[in-house]
Amino acid sequence: MVRINGNYLKLPGSYLFSTIAKKVAAFSETNPDKEIIRLGIGDVTLPLTPTILAAMHTAVDEMGQAETFRGYAPDLGYSFLREAIARTDYQKRGCAIDPEEIFVSDGAKSDSGNIQEIFDNACRIAVTDPVYPVYVDSNAMAGRCGDYDKEREVWTNVIYMPSTSENHFVPEFPKETPDLIYLCLPNNPTGTTLKKSELQAWVDYAIKNRAVILYDAAYEAYIHEDDVPHSIYECDGARECAIELRSFSKNAGFTGVRLGFTVVPKDLVVDGTPLHSLWARRHGTKFNGAPYIIQRAGEAVYTDEGQKEIRGLVSYYMENAKVIKDGLQSLGFEVYGGVNAPYIWLKTPDNMTSWDFFDDLLNRANVVGTPGSGFGPSGEHYFRLTAFGTHENTKKALERIRENYR
Ligand code: MLT
Repeated sequence: MVRINGNYLKLPGSYLFSTIAKKVAAFSETNPDKEIIRLGIGDVTLPLTPTILAAMHTAVDEMGQAETFRGYAPDLGYSFLREAIARTDYQKRGCAIDPEEIFVSDGAKSDSGNIQEIFDNACRIAVTDPVYPVYVDSNAMAGRCGDYDKEREVWTNVIYMPSTSENHFVPEFPKETPDLIYLCLPNNPTGTTLKKSELQAWVDYAIKNRAVILYDAAYEAYIHEDDVPHSIYECDGARECAIELRSFSKNAGFTGVRLGFTVVPKDLVVDGTPLHSLWARRHGTKFNGAPYIIQRAGEAVYTDEGQKEIRGLVSYYMENAKVIKDGLQSLGFEVYGGVNAPYIWLKTPDNMTSWDFFDDLLNRANVVGTPGSGFGPSGEHYFRLTAFGTHENTKKALERIRENYR
């Protein structure tokens, strides 16, 4: 008799951003005259840049000619892209990462959800709290998180590492020893970062405890301050304990294009098995490669022009971050992030719950944000706004917030 994967039944509600989308749709239906500004999900608004578009057009034309047509892409990615990534993102920064250690994919969300498959189900995960929900949900689907405690809104078998204003959003090492440690830096949702010495301490901790760090660097392009590492491989020993996930979504605006990559160094060996070969096996079995046209677009990101253009995108969004941060601070809000990340993390006014503030902001200012509690229990009484809107909408959202919360 067929049985379902009962772990899915343990998952609370729907995925955070689907819940928000449903709530906003319901609000729109009952308030069709209201113009809603969406600063909720971290989705970009600026179009693809000219160099990237030109590369895509050329690749489209190549696909229309018998001589240049391409079928299945290599499972692990075309070497033209893997070489460009290794050179620009790693070797130029002094990180010894080889193109062969780079696995091209259709985005960091898939990779961050799938990577847990190569680990035993008995592995215990540790996550910062608040945290990008995909890490926990994907492990819960695999049955690694125990049961969901509805009252406390936590999984019984997950090690949560609270990151709040009290510890300046720098989590302490957990009391229980984890096997897999998820770190997202610059952090989604809090927008904070670690200094190099702080990240080095995590690498040392992982090596000492024979744990693996799953390092999500999707927001790396937003780092502006010195002494903030752009890759975990800037730390000594990271090749032996860390997998890094990267995205083209937030730096180059590929949220609708889909491209990402994961780095699995060949020195990362667990129980005598290199994780590189396990991930290659998984990738080769379940994935037929990111499309040629998209990988050519990714390659264009690494040209001089491409790099200049994507720096322009990042600066544009960071201007929004400043508008939001300064605006909220001037209204007396307690505000974090927005310096090395496109997210602003604020304390809700009057100690409102995150979801109450979500409703209040939507009803009064017609602005959508993301409730902090959706990212974990320590996100309660916090709220996230994204800097990925247009300048015009960001300013308008701030004006509305000013009118309603002065
Ligand atoms: C977010 O809003 O946290 C992200 O955009 C979600 C994602 O990247 O999947």
